[in-house]
Amino acid sequence: MVRHFLGQNDLAATEMEHIFQRARSLKIDKISNVMAGRSLVMFFEKASTRTRLSFEIGMGQMGGQAVYLDRESSQLSRGESISDTARVVSRYADLIMARVFLHSTVAELAACATIPVVNGLSDEEHPCQGLTDLFTIAEFKGSVRGTRITFVGDGDNNVTHSLMLGAARLGAHVTVASPPELQPQKRYVELAESNARLSGGSVRLTCDPVEAVESADVLYADVWVSMGREGERASRMEMLGKYQVNERLMKLAGPDCIFMHCLPAHIDEEVTADVAYGPRSVIFDQAENRLHVQKALMEFLLFSHEGGA
Ligand code: CP
Ligand code: NVA
Repeated sequence: MVRHFLGQNDLAATEMEHIFQRARSLKIDKISNVMAGRSLVMFFEKASTRTRLSFEIGMGQMGGQAVYLDRESSQLSRGESISDTARVVSRYADLIMARVFLHSTVAELAACATIPVVNGLSDEEHPCQGLTDLFTIAEFKGSVRGTRITFVGDGDNNVTHSLMLGAARLGAHVTVASPPELQPQKRYVELAESNARLSGGSVRLTCDPVEAVESADVLYADVWVSMGREGERASRMEMLGKYQVNERLMKLAGPDCIFMHCLPAHIDEEVTADVAYGPRSVIFDQAENRLHVQKALMEFLLFSHEGGA
């Protein structure tokens, strides 16, 4: 059966742990030949630095090849369908990674492809980021289980949804502090609550950033204006002003609290420079870990799909 990774819940807790273990060894032994003769097609509807580089370089480090495709320069710009594109790519390549505006686009790719499809960010989820964030939390905190993770800012956000789902699945205590208008989508809250019931974790939503950070082990921020939401910039600035992560907020968290951000960051909007570049920030470790975790993810999807590892 073809395994896709469209959302954080597509991986069981044990599968995430397996990927983390493999990523830890890939972080030490970077170069291999496991993807020799294999190809990844990377389809982008939106800008990217980390996702493109980590997938492309990761595939190269494993002896495989990555090919970039976008709407503008492909026949998609002239009306070829997503479904036909998925069928054609499946005849050439072994994996697809897609960054899209609408989650339904990545779902359609997966429905028509005969090879694994990875969501490289949609309007609803950013599961490669979520997986990497949990790996990074385990690296810095020893374990995700029992860790108090607080997200502050735009709750109705791809990064928030994936983090919430994955953290709850691995037994963490997640708090999301966001304005009433920008709470995480109900569907994702319900899925995360159901994950937490099974794992012993918990999910809490609040509008109060001060109360939310109390005794947090991890404080997480993302941009206030995600790609595709530029038209809402003015209202979002207004709603999110009091959700900035600054030194004052960091001081209210636990003494060993780390700061995380998926990047790119907008300094002096969702986070101040003293926090983003301060001693408790792990943002560049997070960025690096995208490489190791996604290499392990690609191995997992490809070889489990083929009945291997
Ligand atoms: N965090 C992340 O996905 O970064 P890019 O948008 O640069 O890929
Ligand atoms: N929420 C952000 C994440 C960028 C990696 C966005 O969608 O733009």
